[in-house]
Amino acid sequence: MHYRLALLGFGNVGKELAKLLLSKRNELEEQHNITYSVVGIATAKHGVAIDPDGIDLDRALKIPDLTKLSVRQMPLDAFEFLRQCDADVLFENTPVNYDTGQPAVDHLNTALELGMHAITANKGPVVHAYKQLKDLAKKNGVNFYFESTVMDGAPIFSLFREALPGANLLSFRGILNSTTNMILTLMENGESFEQAVTYCQSIGIAETDPSGDIDGWDAAVKVAALATVLMGIPLKPQQVTRKGIRELTAQDIAQAVKSGKRWKLVCSARLEGGAIQAKVGPEQVAPGSPLFTVDGTTSIVQFETDVLGALSVIEADPGPHTTAYGLFADFLNAIKKNEAA
Ligand SMILES: NC(=O)c1ccc[n+]([C@@H]2O[C@H](COP(=O)([O-])OP(=O)(O)OC[C@H]3O[C@@H](n4cnc5c(N)ncnc54)[C@H](OP(=O)(O)O)[C@@H]3O)[C@@H](O)[C@H]2O)c1
Repeated sequence: MHYRLALLGFGNVGKELAKLLLSKRNELEEQHNITYSVVGIATAKHGVAIDPDGIDLDRALKIPDLTKLSVRQMPLDAFEFLRQCDADVLFENTPVNYDTGQPAVDHLNTALELGMHAITANKGPVVHAYKQLKDLAKKNGVNFYFESTVMDGAPIFSLFREALPGANLLSFRGILNSTTNMILTLMENGESFEQAVTYCQSIGIAETDPSGDIDGWDAAVKVAALATVLMGIPLKPQQVTRKGIRELTAQDIAQAVKSGKRWKLVCSARLEGGAIQAKVGPEQVAPGSPLFTVDGTTSIVQFETDVLGALSVIEADPGPHTTAYGLFADFLNAIKKNEAA
């Protein structure tokens, strides 16, 4: 079966996805009987390419202006781009908007209306429009998947969707923000808060303005996404009780180490009598906790369900390449589900 793919957003994640698609091309064909062509790539400032016969991905990864690869006129906006592409699958990887999820929500809506599977690593649409996008996908006989929004490529949403049928999630607890965990690890090794932030920026895991991570917003969005999708409680990031790591001092860190504990930015949510308590905040964890040994950029989430004992997922050393795998897995799962239907 042949699939036409469109990529909206071609930054760190979009480019890693392109590399993964290239490296898996033969395997997809030989083992899964799947071929693909990328018929459109759109960015904000690096041009737009549309070619119904397929864009040369190797060249797209090398040139600064994608417009050179286009056989069509520059579309007016992302919506016209989607209409012109006539793709089967959209990968939406534009920057997150914590407040409204836009314009990604509208991009995904348009793709679903046009009958495309919609796949994203962007957390905004999940916390701001999950139910509406899921219902629209169902109505149009396609899928809306977003595995990479929490813990990059590690299976979290698909774990519950595919492997845990009938299980009810009662609570979860984990470390879901790599940047703050790296900062806390570096501070334990004697670096100042500022040095640790600078290091995280130098390796590309913290943005120029790192407040989204440091003040707990990224973690709060992930808590909201997990609660919304896995617990069925629609939750906005603003409804998560949130405190970041800004106020932790070198003394606090050293004191904890001295008493055999470690500070972690802990994400948690618990259902109690139909209501949810959702929280992000620094906590001291003891050696008995599964969170204790989670260092650097590694993340963890521990689930409590009504059917199993504690179930944990740990992802070591995530990055745009593991985020790309989450998108790739969503692609295969989305088309597999449709083929089986
Ligand atoms: N980086 C990670 O490891 C990671 C992990 C999990 C989730 N995510 C999520 O994945 C998404 C992409 O992250 P990233 O690191 O790839 O970001 P990025 O490097 O900043 O890339 C964003 C891309 O989107 C394009 N873009 C921005 N606004 C657009 C618009 N209105 N229409 C079309 N294209 C637009 C940009 O164009 P220009 O190139 O012209 O600027 C760029 O190509 C974000 O939502 C992020 O939160 C990332």
